[in-house]
Amino acid sequence: MADKIETIGVLTSGGDAPGMNAAIRAVVRTAIARGKKVKGIKKGYNGLLNEEIIDMDAKSVADIIQRGGTILQTARCMEFMTEEGQKRGAEVCKKHGIDGLVVIGGDGSFRGAQKIANYGINTIGVPGTIDLDIACTDYTIGFDTAVNTAMEAIDKVRDTSTSHERCSIIEVMGRNAGYIALWCAIANGAEDVLLPERYNNDEQTLIDNIINNRRKGKKHHIIINAEGIGHSTSMARRIEAATGIETRATVLGYMQRGGSPTCTDRVYASVMGTLAVDLLCEGKSNRVVAHKNGEFVDYDIDEALSMTKDIDNYQFTVSSLLAK
Ligand code: ADP
Ligand code: F6P
Repeated sequence: MADKIETIGVLTSGGDAPGMNAAIRAVVRTAIARGKKVKGIKKGYNGLLNEEIIDMDAKSVADIIQRGGTILQTARCMEFMTEEGQKRGAEVCKKHGIDGLVVIGGDGSFRGAQKIANYGINTIGVPGTIDLDIACTDYTIGFDTAVNTAMEAIDKVRDTSTSHERCSIIEVMGRNAGYIALWCAIANGAEDVLLPERYNNDEQTLIDNIINNRRKGKKHHIIINAEGIGHSTSMARRIEAATGIETRATVLGYMQRGGSPTCTDRVYASVMGTLAVDLLCEGKSNRVVAHKNGEFVDYDIDEALSMTKDIDNYQFTVSSLLAK
């Protein structure tokens, strides 16, 4: 198909993720290099419906590659879940001359992109979420930074746990996905990890493991708990009562979503942002960019959203094997 795109819009949607700014910068500067106009849509689909739309040039994205958050801000938008909202979103795009739209966000945001494409707007999704829970891609923007932030924080909790010979339950983010938890379990050498994809609520096994480890002479017991399981504080109380070992809960929370992106997040986000614009310029629409088996690729959005993903069983085995 011939290149018909004149103006490219870009928005960030869903939870923010470090590296989103690098992706925005890449979209804006690539679009300009390809002779297109660029409009930034603020606050996700909410801002689209409220017409919070700004002209962007190369200078608008200066000095942002190293910054966490998203300069366009982000939001969750209930109205966009309705057909009426999606139709109006497409009308707003047309009114502002936006004929190509890059949506940086998670699979919810991609569903929005898929819907707006049905109303004639060329859309490309770029995977941005700290959760790593987008099935079509091995990499999502923000995961690398978030998991490193969590890892550093857990190292600190481990220091004090060892000093006090305590058990620590550390809750990491990841909605219903255990990727941050599993990676931290391996990287931090945690004794146990509770993943929404695997945990069977067997607290007794956990308690036995803590008692056995203490008998073996372990000075701490780190349990990484994924947000999808939650209840870290009440779990800590129950474990302390059952084991007699002082147990504390730490919920890392939103610190995992902020901070300066790692090199990987800056580089991958930059390549993905550029690829999104190049796909639009090739006349493609209704696609998402991905990193699969070591290569940057793109998928049809319907196909991408129908894929499923599970955590790696071998990595899960590694995490428990090395904590013995
Ligand atoms: P993420 O993109 O990180 O998965 P959400 O699931 O919260 O985050 O989705 C972000 C936004 O995308 C929602 O607030 C909504 O505006 C839009 N969205 C999500 N699901 C759909 C859907 N099925 N149809 C249309 N828009 C959707
Ligand atoms: O999807 C990213 C994420 O940070 C999840 O890990 C978490 O469950 C969720 O967003 C929190 O969303 P909110 O910002 O709406 O509290």
